[in-house]
Amino acid sequence: QADTVPQAPEDPLFGLMAAYRRDDDPKKVDLGIGAYRDNNAKPWVLPVVKKADEIIRKDPDLNHEYLPIAGLAEFTSASQKLLLGADSPALKEKRVTSLQTISGTGALHLGALFLSKFYRTNAKRTVYFSNPTWPNHFQVFSNVNLEYQQYPYFSKETRGLDFDGFIKTLKGADEGSIIVLHACAHNPTGVDPSQEQWKEIAKVMKERKLFPFLDTAYQGFASGDLDRDGWAIRHFVEQGFELVIAQSYAKNFGLYGERAGCFHFITAPSSDAEETTKRVASQLAILQRSEISNPPAYGARVASTVLNNPELFAQWKEDLKTMSGRIIDMRKALRSKLEELGTPGTWNHITEQIGMFSFTGLTEKQVLKLREDSHVYMTKNGRISMAGLNTNNVDYFAKAVDKALRD
Ligand code: LMR
Repeated sequence: QADTVPQAPEDPLFGLMAAYRRDDDPKKVDLGIGAYRDNNAKPWVLPVVKKADEIIRKDPDLNHEYLPIAGLAEFTSASQKLLLGADSPALKEKRVTSLQTISGTGALHLGALFLSKFYRTNAKRTVYFSNPTWPNHFQVFSNVNLEYQQYPYFSKETRGLDFDGFIKTLKGADEGSIIVLHACAHNPTGVDPSQEQWKEIAKVMKERKLFPFLDTAYQGFASGDLDRDGWAIRHFVEQGFELVIAQSYAKNFGLYGERAGCFHFITAPSSDAEETTKRVASQLAILQRSEISNPPAYGARVASTVLNNPELFAQWKEDLKTMSGRIIDMRKALRSKLEELGTPGTWNHITEQIGMFSFTGLTEKQVLKLREDSHVYMTKNGRISMAGLNTNNVDYFAKAVDKALRD
């Protein structure tokens, strides 16, 4: 039977990573995958992660038993507090249930699977993604047979948010539609709504009875401030929505390979919200058991050791500032170099966009030219991972862009 299986295309991002590895030019620059690099273009193990690792290894009671189906309880409860704030009424009212997942992708999948089984099963449940969005969103949600559409998000003219287009689509969406929102540091554009705009988005979603599915992979990475980056999520929770959150620790802990993440379901306030939450938790446990039985321990232990220890938590904040600070410096350096070169176009968006990525505005043709002529690797949509730039290659990259835009 397998002879009928069609060939699938290679994953664009991991394919790009492989092409970069194959390139033996010493000048090559990797601006593809969203993974932090230090100023020497090397992966960075956060100092706080090294400390947590030592603590875990020294624990005489450490063993390799299964975690519970919902994961490490100290990890999931600390994750709730990190996202919602320790004094969140949703936590006090026991309206939150959380499961440890295979990072953000696993959380998205668990959420999508749950919604496909239990959410308004008698209605059409369209999922809306931002245009553009993280390409894996499409696959994760269509795997569980949820249909999707997109809402306008990025304005090519301003290289900022297409707020009017976004709101208009929300107003026209069918009641009950699921709206996937990037909670902070939008991937791939680096463009986030302002707090005032988030308020309006939440208001329209409430009026139209739309369901928020918040995806958060960059808390602490956008502004360097965990609370500020959690603002949009907290605002939605305050508005009394029933909602879900997919949370990844890949970027903000540099735990890419450990797959530490969480899925959170928050029930809307009501007299029987606690009971509803318990029933939801029971179904999520069945889904989790059938898919992965129980989540992997190591990454969750590392994150939990940091999240539950005030001293380590303070150090983590410093490490986040180191990463976000270096990225901000690279934004400034790239913009000023392009402006100094008089590169055609305007470059203010490089410093205005936030988080790990910048949506440069380069066309697919220019991206391919940069790869061929200058050994610069970035995704075809013109996204660059700012973390791939450093004081050794930012001038080289700016000159390569300048050349590609003039040829
Ligand atoms: C990215 O967008 O580069 C990252 O989120 C990595 C991934 O898994 O796609």
